[in-house]
Amino acid sequence: MVSSISEDKPVIHKDSVSLNSYEKMAEYYFKYVDTKPFNAYYERPATISLLPDVKGKKVLDAACAAGWYTKYLLDKGAYVTAMDFSPLMIEMTKKRVGNKAEVIRADLNDPLSFIKDKSLDVVLSSLTLHYLKNWEIVLSEFNRILKEGGLLVFSVHHPFMDFTTFKKENYFLTELLDDEWNTYNGKVKVQFYRRPLCEIITSVIDAGFIIEKLLEPMPIEQFKIEQPDIYDRLTKKPQFLFIRAKKQ
Ligand SMILES: C[S@@+](CC[C@H](N)C(=O)[O-])C[C@H]1O[C@@H](n2cnc3c(N)ncnc32)[C@H](O)[C@@H]1O
Repeated sequence: MVSSISEDKPVIHKDSVSLNSYEKMAEYYFKYVDTKPFNAYYERPATISLLPDVKGKKVLDAACAAGWYTKYLLDKGAYVTAMDFSPLMIEMTKKRVGNKAEVIRADLNDPLSFIKDKSLDVVLSSLTLHYLKNWEIVLSEFNRILKEGGLLVFSVHHPFMDFTTFKKENYFLTELLDDEWNTYNGKVKVQFYRRPLCEIITSVIDAGFIIEKLLEPMPIEQFKIEQPDIYDRLTKKPQFLFIRAKKQ
């Protein structure tokens, strides 16, 4: 599936944001994110509900972080290529899965030239596309590397959530936001883009996909046991948006 891998190639694209943030959070992701309620009891159940049976399928984990999905997909019998622009995240994923997957350092702002046309059954990209200003390149690359009928499953920050939390004035803009996250070793500054819902949907359709499903899910019951206040909030205000789209 992978035609060439260049680990030495500089991967910092001019539009990339939050690379240093993820370098700082790699250990944290490896140690804590597996069981973080937002991921374990909200994001993952919804994403997994959109995935097909991946046994024997070729899957790209696009922005694998510390490799939770990479391992999940391997355990389900998929052939997995995982990529991320953070060298430390790549290390964490390799630590988790060894050589069972191809784990490649690359930037989603650049063409994924290490993957052949029409070679994959599924592209999974969880909680990552909001780090990209321009979705044209990445979505046309996802379309190029998928076989006909192949599936793109992704989750992103919900446009309503970012618009209201950051108290922005103009919903219709695509704009860079500055945030600060608490981790076990202090606060980390993170930047990402918000965009209106019509931009998200139009970009997917214009890249040659048919949207099959869109989810604004509820957290699962376990969330309520661990963090009842946040559970309550999530049952009233969506945090993430989930899409499954099929290559035409
Ligand atoms: C919130 S994490 C999500 C990780 C993983 N998909 C999950 O759900 O556990 C976002 C990941 O996207 C990666 N990332 C952000 N911008 C990227 C880019 N332009 N190219 C490749 N990876 C990127 C970060 O390094 C980080 O690992």
